[in-house]
Amino acid sequence: MLHLTFRQLSVFEAVARHLSYSRAALEMHLTQPAVSMQIKQLEENVGMPLFEQLGKKVYLTEAGRELSHYSRVIAQQLSEAETVMNDLKGLQRGRLKISVASTANYFAPQLLANFSQRFPTVTVSLDVTNRQALLAQLANNEMDMAIMGQPPEGLDLVAESFMENPLVVIAPVNHPLATAAKKIPLARLQSETFLVREQGSGTRIAMERFFDQHGIKFHTGMEMSSNEAIKQAVQAGLGLGILSLHTIELELETKRLKVLDVKGFPIMRHWYVVHRKDKRLSTVAQAFKTFLLNEAKQILGH
Ligand code: PGA
Repeated sequence: MLHLTFRQLSVFEAVARHLSYSRAALEMHLTQPAVSMQIKQLEENVGMPLFEQLGKKVYLTEAGRELSHYSRVIAQQLSEAETVMNDLKGLQRGRLKISVASTANYFAPQLLANFSQRFPTVTVSLDVTNRQALLAQLANNEMDMAIMGQPPEGLDLVAESFMENPLVVIAPVNHPLATAAKKIPLARLQSETFLVREQGSGTRIAMERFFDQHGIKFHTGMEMSSNEAIKQAVQAGLGLGILSLHTIELELETKRLKVLDVKGFPIMRHWYVVHRKDKRLSTVAQAFKTFLLNEAKQILGH
């Protein structure tokens, strides 16, 4: 078996590449005698000369040529290993600061749980707020990335969609429209009262835009700043609501709310992972983004 050190091999690789002891010495920040010494020891270990010198020129012997092939491959592999180790170091010590739209909070914890299982040493902090506040946070560079509905154009943001977000009309289970009515015409909603999210909510914006586009005047009841409050109010019979399907899974399962079959619904929005264009993503942030884009849908079963 060959007895050689990585040090000898990397010095050899440099001399073989430059075909010059002095240039190899320069590149490796060594003196020329130190380079000669390493090569001499390597030749002793291998049991054959690896270079020959004719005049001022250095040539590889046949053994040198063979070894240089392997030393190049090994050097490449080592540098790849170094990159991977550094990345992992970054991941292990990493922190991830993300903010999510209040509606995304219904699935974000599940995703974070899966991500943390894979990278247990990463510290994650999660802020939950509405769309408008998220845009302000992005503008002030206060977090690594956000999960939200599509951000407005022209803000120098990168936004990539990773999952659909259907908005549906919800009603209490005993509502007249909830029992067996199919393909309810949009116009029929004009005689209903709607509980709406606060100004600045993405859900609210999407709902208003949708009714506007279809020329529907809808009647607004109370305004509420959380999806939970809307669900409770709809159950209590205060009106209908339009919410993301992702917020009502439990209520549908336990039959506390009903999704109405209204023509034109669901309003199909998407979830985006968003960060500033000029943001240099940390290794952790990059890993989280890749995780979202590749796996979120599958993990959540949407
Ligand atoms: P929200 O939802 O701001 O209504 O919580 C986010 C979005 O759909 O953009």
